[in-house]
Formats: sequence, structure tokens, C-alpha cells
Amino acid sequence: MAFVTVANVNELPDLGRIIAKVDGVWVAVFRVGDYYYAIEDQCTHDGESLAETGTLLDADTDNPRVECDRHGATFELKTGKPTFPAVVPVARYPVRIEGDEIQVNVQEPLQTQ
Ligand code: FES
Repeated sequence: MAFVTVANVNELPDLGRIIAKVDGVWVAVFRVGDYYYAIEDQCTHDGESLAETGTLLDADTDNPRVECDRHGATFELKTGKPTFPAVVPVARYPVRIEGDEIQVNVQEPLQTQ
């Protein structure tokens, strides 16, 4: 497993997001409470950056989503599942906290459920 440090936990407040390039892949990492989610930072509809312009939705539920600012597709952070106009799930990656470092592994994407 090739986990790469993308940030310190202090750099990512609750309901925040960061963008990092990991092994050539732009990754968006969202924090919702004590949970961290890493997805490819590219809307599968037409390539918009989800971390730069996306809106976090349903953060007070167990199914937070990010809404693409461009045409309104949403993606579940837990599963990557999209809504129209996107039809392809966004890639998701394992995240772990090692000490105070947030680490992401893009070598082994998580399977969409
Ligand atoms: S580019 Fe994201 S919904 Fe179109």
C-alpha cells in the first residue's frame, strides 16, 4: 500500500476540503466530522474540480455528498455514486490518519458499491 501524506490534520477543519496531487492524480479530500473522504478531484460529467468549486451537501447526515458547481451533478462521498448529469461514479481512495498526517493511497482505488 502506497499511502502518501497530503496534509496535517490541523490543516483540514471540519467540513473543509483540500486538493493534493498524489502520484499524478489530483485528489480532493473532504472532512466531515471525524471522517475523511478522498475522491478524484474531477467531475465525471465534464471535468470540473469538485474541491475547488463543489458544495458540500448533507454533511449532517450519514450520506454526505458534493455537488459540482458547473451543472449540478452530485457524488456520494462514501460510494462515489453520481446523480444526473453525471453517470459515472467518481473514483474513491483509501484515507488513513497516521499520527497527525492525513494519508491517501491512489494506487488501490476503492470499489464502488
Ligand atoms: S462538469 Fe460537473 S456536472 Fe457538469
